Amino acid sequence: MSSYVYMKVLESTPERYDRGIRLLSGGTIDALWARIARRVAGPGVRVLDIGCGTGGLSLACAARGALVTGLDRDAGMLAVARRKAAAQQLEHPPRWLELGVMEIEDELSPESFDAIVASLVMSELLPEERAHTLRQARRLLVPGGALVLADEAAPAGRAARAWWRLRRAPRVAITWLLTQQTTHPMDGLADEVRRAGFDDVREERVPEGDFLIVSARRGDAP
Ligand SMILES: C[S@@+](CC[C@H](N)C(=O)[O-])C[C@H]1O[C@@H](n2cnc3c(N)ncnc32)[C@H](O)[C@@H]1O
Repeated sequence: MSSYVYMKVLESTPERYDRGIRLLSGGTIDALWARIARRVAGPGVRVLDIGCGTGGLSLACAARGALVTGLDRDAGMLAVARRKAAAQQLEHPPRWLELGVMEIEDELSPESFDAIVASLVMSELLPEERAHTLRQARRLLVPGGALVLADEAAPAGRAARAWWRLRRAPRVAITWLLTQQTTHPMDGLADEVRRAGFDDVREERVPEGDFLIVSARRGDAP
């Protein structure tokens, strides 16, 4: 089954999304969100979470006192995010925007965020949507602002990749049977971030699961 179909189904089952993503990540997704939140979020920091889904990363940032905007095109995912936020009684609950990445330009002002994050989203976008999103992220960040993107990544090397596929297959199958959800890995994100004009682009594998974080900074140039 193609990634496109996987993603369509993922977006059609928001109520089961959290269960599915925890299964698929081998229980590591919360640690990934916490890692990103520790890196960017603090009291009063303005954070934009692109493709926030059911709000896991947005809420991890808001719990650290950040002023979070969670943006997603899927009303069902945002409804779950809103419910989770209401249950947490945060001092500054996130603002939720139902918006596609191609509509960002019309809705959000330049230099209105200190940090922009996206988890398991870039791999879902078409190449032209990714390029647009990265250009917009640069426009929306203040000079010096941080960009942190996390996606699933297959290891380098044929043998490591084959072993990774073997290890992942049962988890994918179980997750799919229970929730009809999955994710798919992507390569080359750091280069795309560089091409979008970001500075200090770094790519790192994180200890929790098969994730790659690409982080960067918006330089001072306009
Ligand atoms: C795999 S989920 C990740 C959700 C969340 N960031 C997480 O870490 O669990 C991908 C999310 O990206 C959203 N998305 C996909 N394409 C989008 C687009 N073009 N504009 C806005 N959101 C989009 C989907 O609706 C979905 O909620």
